Amino acid sequence: MIQKEALMELALQARQNAYTPYSNYRVGAAVLTGDGRLFTGCNIENASYGATICAERTAIFKAVSEGAERIAAIAIAGGLADSEPSDYAFPCGICRQVMKEFGSDELTIYVVRSLTDYQEFTLAELLPHGFGGDSIK
Ligand code: THU
Repeated sequence: MIQKEALMELALQARQNAYTPYSNYRVGAAVLTGDGRLFTGCNIENASYGATICAERTAIFKAVSEGAERIAAIAIAGGLADSEPSDYAFPCGICRQVMKEFGSDELTIYVVRSLTDYQEFTLAELLPHGFGGDSIK
């Protein structure tokens, strides 16, 4: 598996591209796919607020649209303005649900303040008893 530091560094870099004129809350994400590829994403806001997309879904949808079928790990870095992340940016519920669609319970989620200050979770920890495709078979 790619070094988690590399994934976290990509998330911090992707955060620089966040388009956030309304919240000024900037998020970057980096995804490692099951077939070993890397994709990044940032949050992209819209004057019609509901059209905003989170960084995590940007990265996951980029991966899936390029043929990836599974997500193995994701790193997330978020915080206000141009400063370094001041807190851990946990994924919103919708993004956790999208992770469920393309990842296993063991999908690794890194919430990153810096390369030396991060927390690591599995999807099962952040989305226990989740609803997935198996639920409707
Ligand atoms: N945001 C993300 O990018 N990821 C999350 O998991 C939570 C929220 C973004 C959406 C919006 O642009 C800003 O953070 C404030 O909600």
